[in-house]
Amino acid sequence: MSSSHDRRPAGRYYIETWGCQMNVLDSDKMSGALEHHGYVRTDDAAEADVVLLNTCSIREKAQEKVFSELGRLKALKDRRPGMVLGVCGCVAQQEGERIFSRAPYVDVVVGTRATSSLPILVNRLRAGDDSARHVADVEIRNDSIHFPYDRIRRDGEGRGRAYVTVVEGCNHRCTFCIVPTTRGREVCRDLDDVVGEVRHLAARGVHEVEFLGQTVNAYRDAAGRNLGDLLRAAADVEGIGRIRFTTSHPAQMTESLMDAMRDARPKLCPYLHLPVQSGSSAVLRAMRRGYDRSGYLSRIEALRRRIPEMTFGTDVIVGFPTETDADFEQTLELVREVEYDTLYSFAYSARPGTAALEFGDAVPADVKMERLQRLQAEQQGIQERRMARWVGSVVEVLVDGPDAKRPGVWSGRTPEARVVNFRGESAPGRLERVVVERASPFALYGVPSLPSPA
Ligand code: SAH
Ligand code: F3S
Repeated sequence: MSSSHDRRPAGRYYIETWGCQMNVLDSDKMSGALEHHGYVRTDDAAEADVVLLNTCSIREKAQEKVFSELGRLKALKDRRPGMVLGVCGCVAQQEGERIFSRAPYVDVVVGTRATSSLPILVNRLRAGDDSARHVADVEIRNDSIHFPYDRIRRDGEGRGRAYVTVVEGCNHRCTFCIVPTTRGREVCRDLDDVVGEVRHLAARGVHEVEFLGQTVNAYRDAAGRNLGDLLRAAADVEGIGRIRFTTSHPAQMTESLMDAMRDARPKLCPYLHLPVQSGSSAVLRAMRRGYDRSGYLSRIEALRRRIPEMTFGTDVIVGFPTETDADFEQTLELVREVEYDTLYSFAYSARPGTAALEFGDAVPADVKMERLQRLQAEQQGIQERRMARWVGSVVEVLVDGPDAKRPGVWSGRTPEARVVNFRGESAPGRLERVVVERASPFALYGVPSLPSPA
């Protein structure tokens, strides 16, 4: 046996992830960094030597979840004092030292861009180096985005898909948003490095790549190459069958990017997440979004002109402090007009350090809830109709895995990112052709279009 099999692991780590795709990938990087230092993953916090929470602070509720989870983990820490408890990600970046005053049993706080320093801090703590205790490594660094891609421990890889961060941070200043504080200003990777990663993934059997950035369409490398150039280059990589990118800012949806999207079809998936936030130009102005209602709608139209099969998803905030009933009606109208396939809606949550604080939190909680419910009911009706049109057709499904609750049922996604459940033989990462027999607003149901070979 090789010596690596005899070597005892440095320890076991457990990691819990909240929030967006960027956090999912950051957790894969932290896992890779720890495994490079000899740690092995466990899914049971009770037996872990290192317990990490990779956190989200986008809304107050997300942040509060972190502190209640820390309360739960305290009991574990009391029983196993040698265990290292770390808080990483956006709450770490934003709260820094304050985490220690609320939860003094936390050992280490690591910022969003300090992935590589994590194993070193952990090892120092476990060796009893108390100077590493309560270190808040939250100065904005750039080692996460340049993390060596062959060391990332990707959870999605066995399922044939992978996230690839191309730009980190955000240069916008939307008045409600905390991301510029937690993620810093934009840093872009070199295009050749990104394409190298895509080739590396293709060689490992990855079929679908999704480029990530808080504002992914702001991507521009030092040589001036932009997201459009990247889409064309990625479409040339053999073995890659699906390309996605998220999240796009409507103000940076240029005609030339749209042309590149058309050129990258059919590999470029016909689904775009384009957060509108509000259908009211007055609210969009107060949010400092950099486009108005008609500017947004004209971009949707320009995309549909180039790619008629294009489908859309969006984010909406209801109850922004200046939002009136009439503003909200305009949001409902825009949602009816665009006919999104997916809509994420959020009640406005006041965040520390954001410009919108000056407006107060003027919309009462019950009004926010009522608007949220009306919006969701409207969207559900739209999704019902949008999903029903797939019944009777054959769709291509990239299989995620077996359905957790129903044995014999597999689940995956179409290029339009629709969830498909089907009965039959399959495996994670496989491409299946499925006849859609039934639809709900949230998923399609069917059977493989050809019987599996015996
Ligand atoms: N461009 C980013 C957006 C980040 S936040 C990205 O990478 O996805 C995701 C969504 O959360 C936003 O589009 C917005 O709809 C919502 N959001 C952000 N700040 C919020 C706040 N203070 N209250 C409620 N929702 C918020
Ligand atoms: Fe946030 Fe606006 Fe940037 S929503 S991530 S500040 S584009």
